[in-house]
Amino acid sequence: MFYPEEVIEEIRSRNDIFDVISGYVKLQKKGSSYFGLCPFHNEKSGSFSVAPHKQMYYCFGCGAGGNVITFIMEYENFTFVEAVKLLADRAGIKLPEVEYSEENRRAFDLKSKLFEINKLAATYFYHQLQIENGKKAKDYLSNRELSDETINQFGLGYSNMYSDDLYKYFKSKGYQDDILKETGLFSYENSYNSGVNDKFWNRIIFPIMDVNNKVVGFGGRVMGDAKPKYLNSPETKLFDKSRNLYGLNIARISRKPNLIICEGYMDVISLHQAGFNQAVASLGTALTLGQASLMKRYANEVLITYDSDEAGVKAALRSIPILKAAGLTTRVIDMRPYKDPDEFIKALGAEAFQERIDKAMNSFMYEIATMQLEYDLKDPESKTKFFNEISKRIVEFPEELERNNYIEAVADNYMISVDSLRKMVANYGNMVGIVKNIGEPKKSTFKKEKEDGVKKAQKILLTWMINDVPLFQKITKYVSPEDFIEPLFHDVANKLFQQLESGNVNPASIISTYESEEEHKEVAALFNSELSDELNDNEMEKALNETIFKVKKNSLEYKSRNVNNMEELKNIAKEKILLQNIHVEL
Ligand code: UTP
Ligand code: MN
Repeated sequence: MFYPEEVIEEIRSRNDIFDVISGYVKLQKKGSSYFGLCPFHNEKSGSFSVAPHKQMYYCFGCGAGGNVITFIMEYENFTFVEAVKLLADRAGIKLPEVEYSEENRRAFDLKSKLFEINKLAATYFYHQLQIENGKKAKDYLSNRELSDETINQFGLGYSNMYSDDLYKYFKSKGYQDDILKETGLFSYENSYNSGVNDKFWNRIIFPIMDVNNKVVGFGGRVMGDAKPKYLNSPETKLFDKSRNLYGLNIARISRKPNLIICEGYMDVISLHQAGFNQAVASLGTALTLGQASLMKRYANEVLITYDSDEAGVKAALRSIPILKAAGLTTRVIDMRPYKDPDEFIKALGAEAFQERIDKAMNSFMYEIATMQLEYDLKDPESKTKFFNEISKRIVEFPEELERNNYIEAVADNYMISVDSLRKMVANYGNMVGIVKNIGEPKKSTFKKEKEDGVKKAQKILLTWMINDVPLFQKITKYVSPEDFIEPLFHDVANKLFQQLESGNVNPASIISTYESEEEHKEVAALFNSELSDELNDNEMEKALNETIFKVKKNSLEYKSRNVNNMEELKNIAKEKILLQNIHVEL
């Protein structure tokens, strides 16, 4: 962790969750909690709750939840450290200087120097575009219908006709060659006058920013048809192409339900100008898993709008499995007859593009539609091959429900009977031995249900424990942290039991011992199980004892399966007897 736990806890506890969240969401009091419309999903009735006594929020609709730090992470799309900084500021707490090792300090210094140089260079290019010298470049951008506002938002610039003015500028400011060499802005080799040259000249400059709005590199476009069309910064200590997406610094706060991925600088800029400010680009390189995971931080769905040419289709087909691997759902936007989003919007406008978004094809159906071009559906043999190929792919979906959905969608789309397609898929499944009994209930459902039941019992118990500390105390007679089997549950239980021992049960502080938003959410869910409030005291007590029994029994079964020696076996036997005598009074 970046900051000591005590510091985090002080920051958390000095930012009251109700004060903070009511600045973002309209809340109404209901019982001991407040409710409002969830800012993280679309809803008409308020399932979003803020509990001041627990210092937690939780949405019963979408499962968003956590403490005040989580809220800022989720609402502002901040990292843990960024959220902590904001809240420290808000509460007037000064964060301690982070201590670096000598080596880290040097790397950090180098990076901040490089950031500083990039920022200065971007400002320099921007200035060149605004002055008389940059008129030709300004005209070029106007011709491409970019507004001044857009030019400013993306910080577009111009690298003028001189071949070393940027270099001279930095030298005049006292920067040394050893650091300038690391920026990728200059070429030290092959320069005809054996001096140093600027990398970019007479080009439109596109600064590339990271998610924190810091310039990490540049792209430069010629204003005519010369080649290469674009020059880009090489990889540097700041610029890792496989982990960056152009436009993400803006798209991440667009609050749109998806991200749009396109190919180039101009596509992103046109899309943003037309109101689609969730657009990003992988900048001509093949999409990487790193980039896909980066997108997953900000959205669950990605719409692909690569160029309509053959290369674009190929790139889309390559990207789909990568996006899927990162846990994103994907649809593909058809822009034909236009080449790319930039041209499409220029020709038909934003509304027409929105229509294409609405009609975007599910990525699997897109893969099939592309594949279909290789088959002649009028020829029976070719047609059979086509459906065989589809069956082969459908078999690969692990979920039966998903397989069935696709069987229906394909049958509907290509007008064949659901039954015959289902049989084909089943045959395929049997042949490859992956899937059995397609169309019949899965044999393993029961086991899964049981597992889910036990998990649920563990969650309910944890919620009970934090809601009612005297009860928590009573439960410790029967339950220990080891009884929570899932690694995360176990970790959380450990922390809770420690808090109980030190006399301060404080679940909100446990949340911020984790750094990722995902973990925050999961932990918050553990503390916010829905306990029925319609039970009378007797029924409630019965439910509690049943829950303890369930958790304990499962834990003993688990221990029996993993027993190492006689001693453990004896203990398990003892506990099994205790199991029959569980009795906790409310
Ligand atoms: P495109 O050729 O589709 O360019 O390349 P574009 O974005 O549509 O640009 P305009 O509309 O012609 O001005 C897509 C992306 O591939 C990278 C760039 O990032 C570009 O935006 N590329 C392309 C290069 O890096 N170098 C090149 O020579 C060409
Ligand atoms: Mn273009």
